[in-house]
Amino acid sequence: MPTNLPRWTDDAPEPGVPGAPPRHVAIIMDGNGRWAAARGLPRLEGHRRGVEALRRAVRAAHELGVRHLTLYSFSVENWSRPVEEVSDLMNLLRLFIRRDLAELRDSNVRIRVIGERVGLPADILGLLVEAETTTRANTGLTLVVAFNYGGRQELVSAIRRIAEAARDGRLDPSKIDTGVVSDHLDTADIPDPDLVIRTSGELRISNFLLWQSAYAEFAFLPMHWPDFDKKAFEDAVANYQSRQRRYGGRLTRAGA
Ligand code: FPP
Repeated sequence: MPTNLPRWTDDAPEPGVPGAPPRHVAIIMDGNGRWAAARGLPRLEGHRRGVEALRRAVRAAHELGVRHLTLYSFSVENWSRPVEEVSDLMNLLRLFIRRDLAELRDSNVRIRVIGERVGLPADILGLLVEAETTTRANTGLTLVVAFNYGGRQELVSAIRRIAEAARDGRLDPSKIDTGVVSDHLDTADIPDPDLVIRTSGELRISNFLLWQSAYAEFAFLPMHWPDFDKKAFEDAVANYQSRQRRYGGRLTRAGA
């Protein structure tokens, strides 16, 4: 990656300014199963290697100066997988939090969890809450763990709460705007993603950050998630920094 590109620091240009670094990168970590199948390994091994790639991604985000990193770790649709695989994924989350929480806390990482909490196994919920509370005062990278997450479900629950507020007279329906909707999402105080990365070559959004990624840039990488490394992250960020974001408007730079 060219080293002269600005990193995200407090005085870095805002997202939208040409060449600005992404403040928030969100990743759909796809392809663990295919990575394992291509090597004749069980799917669990693919997920295990996926956790290693996840660790690399957190470290790389920190080194690249990304402020927010959202990882799609378990979707509401993932419950439809065979019960053994769901159980493997839950166990990997348990292991990850137990093994890595202290180091993340000491690295000034703040953990946030988005997604539906109702219906999660009690100990998983306890670990997720522990991860959030233990790192609450940290001021470095915010690691947003999307767990039991679905973009449509998040919107439905926001709409429900907005409707209740309107019904109870706490909110004037004519005042409902995009800001009000954003404020009722799980991501209320997190900036929208600037860059959404998906590995494994699939070209879809899969119910991930549907509202928040309205103006995100996308990077669809051909590699499977267990192969994702710092170089892949750097290349995706450098490619992002070479793009012109127009947010539906027109370029204003001379010659554009
Ligand atoms: C996609 O691979 C991966 C997921 C189901 C979610 C991401 C999971 C991990 C990185 C490992 C577990 C980590 C935690 C913290 C829970 P896939 O199974 O959809 O791959 P495929 O499309 O090739 O079958």
